[in-house]
Amino acid sequence: MAHVWGGIIREYLDRMPFDEGDRIVSLGEGGTPLVHAPSISSEVGAEVFVKVEGMNPTGSFKDRGMTSAITQVVKDGDHTVVCASTGNTSASAAAYAAHAGLRCVVMIPQGKIAAGKMAQAIVHGADLVQVDGNFDECLDIVRELSENYPIALVNSVNPYRLQGQKTGAFEIVDQLGDAPDIHMLPVGNAGNISAYWMGFTEYAEAGIASRTPRIWGVQAAGAAPFVAGHPIKDPETVATAIRIGKPASWDLAINARDESGGWIRAVSDEQILHAQARLAADVGVFVEPASAAPIAGLLAAAALGEVPRGATITCTVTGNGLKDTATALGGREVEPTVIPVDVEAAAAALGL
Ligand code: F0G
Repeated sequence: MAHVWGGIIREYLDRMPFDEGDRIVSLGEGGTPLVHAPSISSEVGAEVFVKVEGMNPTGSFKDRGMTSAITQVVKDGDHTVVCASTGNTSASAAAYAAHAGLRCVVMIPQGKIAAGKMAQAIVHGADLVQVDGNFDECLDIVRELSENYPIALVNSVNPYRLQGQKTGAFEIVDQLGDAPDIHMLPVGNAGNISAYWMGFTEYAEAGIASRTPRIWGVQAAGAAPFVAGHPIKDPETVATAIRIGKPASWDLAINARDESGGWIRAVSDEQILHAQARLAADVGVFVEPASAAPIAGLLAAAALGEVPRGATITCTVTGNGLKDTATALGGREVEPTVIPVDVEAAAAALGL
């Protein structure tokens, strides 16, 4: 009989901070495809795969962390969760809280989250508050709220989030048969880079992988505190998901970078949008702008001759392009030709 995927907690229960008897809050997250990218592979002279995290239940990698965070909230007996978000965390928190019957409160930077993500928080019934400030300021508020009121914080400063998100690294090793030479991902609040490093390290220590990969993190140039070496006050980028200037998991991310022998670099908004279009047109995978950052970083590294020949490179593409169609179509003619209900006219319109 075919294996029916049970969500990341059940699939990796022996490596998760939960037991058989716990009430697991899951929407079936994880088990996402690792897709080969032939044209990008030949351009950079390596074997490139994308881990398509937009296939998760709410369309982003956050679901891996949220199943774990919300399962613990239920276990602790809390009734309300809170998060700051650039959109994906709030979508995920809202959905998992709805499933568990919890109240969800989200703080988002006003006017700076994609329409699809906003819609998700609304339809899942979250209490939405827009803050006249950026993500970093939203996070400061919710941290303080969770210290002073009986509400549980489900941002990635909650250690259960990273426990869930480390399973992305497990799956890559399970899918490839070993760790890649290099793993790339976008870096915003820096939870995911920290979680992946934890996952790769754990699998190597257990002997499931023969090695750990180098971690190459990519930020947007207007929001690149790790490249600057200090927090950025007014981060700005078209990739609103990673419009973050003061990453919460600073030390863990630096450790992931240095211990793995990797780097964190920045790419321009133009490079991000180019990589997003390239992934959609050449690979058939539609991601949101932030998710295209690692591909942009990879193409830039290849142009500098820095990609080891024949290396296996995996890139986490973190969120689904359907969340933000406006940015993807920006400036493009989207009115297809209108024809009467007529085969001849269809053939003529197609130049057949
Ligand atoms: N990619 C996407 C699509 C994201 O939504 C995020 C973070 C990242 C990358 C960066 O991951 O923060 O772990 O370094 N989004 C958060 C949110 C901040 O609120 O949805 P990170």
